[in-house]
Amino acid sequence: MTLTADVQATALDLGPARALSCRECGHRTALAAEFACPQCFGPLEVAYEFAGVTRESIEAGPKSIWRYRHLLPVPSDVRTHPNTEPGLTRLIQADRLAAELDVRKLWVKDDTGNPTHSFKDRVVAVALAAARELGFTVLCCPSTGNLANAVAAAAARAGWDSVVLIPSSLEPAKILTTAVYGGTLIAVDGTYDDVNRLATELAAEHDDWAFVNVNVRPYYAEGSKTLGYEVAEQLGWRLPDQIVVPVASGSQLTKVDKGFTEFASLGLVEPTGYRVFGAQAAGCSPVAKAFEDGHDLVAPVRPDTIARSLAIGNPADGPYVLDVVRRTGGAVGHVTDEEIVEGIRLLARTEGVFAETAGGVTVATAKKLIETGKLDPDAETVLLITGDGLKTLDAVSGQVGPTASVPSTTKAVREVLAGRG
Ligand SMILES: Cc1ncc(COP(=O)(O)O)c(C=O)c1O
Ligand SMILES: [Zn+2]
Repeated sequence: MTLTADVQATALDLGPARALSCRECGHRTALAAEFACPQCFGPLEVAYEFAGVTRESIEAGPKSIWRYRHLLPVPSDVRTHPNTEPGLTRLIQADRLAAELDVRKLWVKDDTGNPTHSFKDRVVAVALAAARELGFTVLCCPSTGNLANAVAAAAARAGWDSVVLIPSSLEPAKILTTAVYGGTLIAVDGTYDDVNRLATELAAEHDDWAFVNVNVRPYYAEGSKTLGYEVAEQLGWRLPDQIVVPVASGSQLTKVDKGFTEFASLGLVEPTGYRVFGAQAAGCSPVAKAFEDGHDLVAPVRPDTIARSLAIGNPADGPYVLDVVRRTGGAVGHVTDEEIVEGIRLLARTEGVFAETAGGVTVATAKKLIETGKLDPDAETVLLITGDGLKTLDAVSGQVGPTASVPSTTKAVREVLAGRG
């Protein structure tokens, strides 16, 4: 099938996207709301034909993920639609954290700055733009929390109905910050993996429901490429040596790698080698376990961790995470709940960034990978901080508080100040 034939096979405008391609057998199929290969049931991903993308054209674009729209499966006029505009979040040179971790050069990509305070706004914005073009009218998802926030908010902004399924055990803040946007929010007495199964059944029953991470997953997943693009652009159009990415389903990690690879093959950055590292919570570390055991397949687990946003026991992209990490010479690490809390506090006190538990996983895993010699302390390293600490206050609420509680007198305040170390 030629690329031109792909385009003619569909009247859709999904920008540079030309076809869906199977990650297992390479079979190509026309752009549609499909996610499994008709030949082998492998996962489908978007294949492109890029044209005319330069550093200058990107820099002249909007200050959001839509500066990369010519690299995403979205209509060419995507910005004229009502939409969320995530992206172009801060890349912080983290010298104080670097000193604590004993590494030479460190950056923190702070994705808490997105509209609903996590990287999920990126994937949802791309999914919504593609879903509209594919003819859907309701935005849906199964979620571990952050995706629920992003879907409910994006649907509200676009004037769409939303249906969101979550495990009822999620943090109260994540439930509230989904419910506030309206839409239908169903708390299910089960794990994320149970909720995901229910969503897959519902997607098959409702033609006009776009479950962003199920039936439009190939489009949704591409939104995470923008994290890779932004890191490269913000470093001054070059790739980092090492990057640490939290892993739940594993989609984000594989797409950060895809973003780096595409930038290099388009000549936007030098094709320098880089290593990709995954970070998981010990209480849900199926990918780290497979990595350590040298397996290609990921054995599902039942999650038990405070990092609920990463609590996916049967990660859809787990095998592809293993591929990327092994191909680039990285590793997948895991950390305990105590280490996650320490990671949150370390990042907050050194860089003034308050991350959710997933961020604690990333920081603590990076620390461990440095201590065990897997991350090179002399190489330039980026940590992806993908969600905001205000959503997981419970993780630190017993650990931090006022230095002292005093009566309203100068004497009492002075006494506390005099006693400071
Ligand atoms: C804050 C945060 N970081 C990272 C991830 C991992 O994303 P993925 O499922 O693409 O591995 C999630 C998933 O929900 C998340 O909420
Ligand atoms: Zn296939």
